[in-house]
Amino acid sequence: MDWGMKNRMSKIIKSDGKTVMLAVDHGYFMGPTTGLENIKRTVAPLLEYADTLMLTRGALRNYIEGDVDIPIVLRVSGGTSILNKNLLHEGITTSVEEAIRLNASGIAFSILVGADFERDTLLAFSQIVDEAERYGIPTLAVTAVGKGLERDARYLSLATRIGAELGARFVKTYYCEDDFERVVETSPVPVVIAGGKKVDELAALKIAYKAVSAGAAGVDMGRNIFQSDSPVGMMMAVKSIVHGGKNPEEAYEIYNSHR
Ligand code: 5RP
Repeated sequence: MDWGMKNRMSKIIKSDGKTVMLAVDHGYFMGPTTGLENIKRTVAPLLEYADTLMLTRGALRNYIEGDVDIPIVLRVSGGTSILNKNLLHEGITTSVEEAIRLNASGIAFSILVGADFERDTLLAFSQIVDEAERYGIPTLAVTAVGKGLERDARYLSLATRIGAELGARFVKTYYCEDDFERVVETSPVPVVIAGGKKVDELAALKIAYKAVSAGAAGVDMGRNIFQSDSPVGMMMAVKSIVHGGKNPEEAYEIYNSHR
C-alpha cells in the first residue's frame, strides 16, 4: 500500500483495527430525515466520540466548521430519492477532485448487487475507484440492499466480495444472523456494518457487539445514533463496544447514564 493510502486508511480505521464511523449522509436520498433536520446541531456534540464522519459535500460545507479535527468519508454516489421506485440506482455525484478539495480521507459509493441496474452501479463504482486510487484515496463500497433482496449471509457476502474485488479498500454492509462470520471471512478488506432503521437501543448495541465479535472492523452507524433519545449516550455506548470490548449490557448502562 502506498504511503498516502496507508495514511488515509489509518485515519479511518484506528490502530486497534477498529472504527466508529458516524453516518449522517442520509439527506442525499432521504432529504431532512428525522434527527438530521439541522446536521450541525446533531453532529456537534457527537464529533469527539466518532473516529470518522460520513456525509455529502453539501452537508460538509454547510453544516460542519472548517477547523474540525475529524477524518471525512465523503459520500460520492447518488441520483435517486426515496420517491423513486428504482431507489439506489446510483451514479457518481461528486468527483475525486472535489473529494481532494474537501480534504476527504476516503470516499463512499453505493452498489446494488442483484438489482436490474446492478451493472450501472458496479461500473460507476469501478470508475470512481480507478480515479480515487490514482490519488491514494480509499473507497468504501456501501453494499445497499434493495427491495426484495434478502439480508442474509449468502447475499451480503456476494455483495461485499464484489465490492472488494472491484477495488473497495473497505466495505459497509449489514449484520445478519445466519452467518455473518462468512461475510467477514470471505472479504479481503475490512468490513463495517450499517445500523439500519432505528430499533431500541439495546437491540442496536447487540447488533454492533455481534458484528464486532464476528470480526467486523466496526460500525458506520447513523439512525440508531442520531434518532436515539440520547445520541451522545449511544455514541459512547457503541464506542465502548467497538474499542473498549464492552458487552451490550455494559454498553447499555453507559447509554442509560447519559439519558
Ligand atoms: C445508505 C447509507 C446511509 O445513508 C447511511 O450511511 C446508513 O446508516 P444507518 O443505516 O446506520 O442509518 O449508507 O445506503
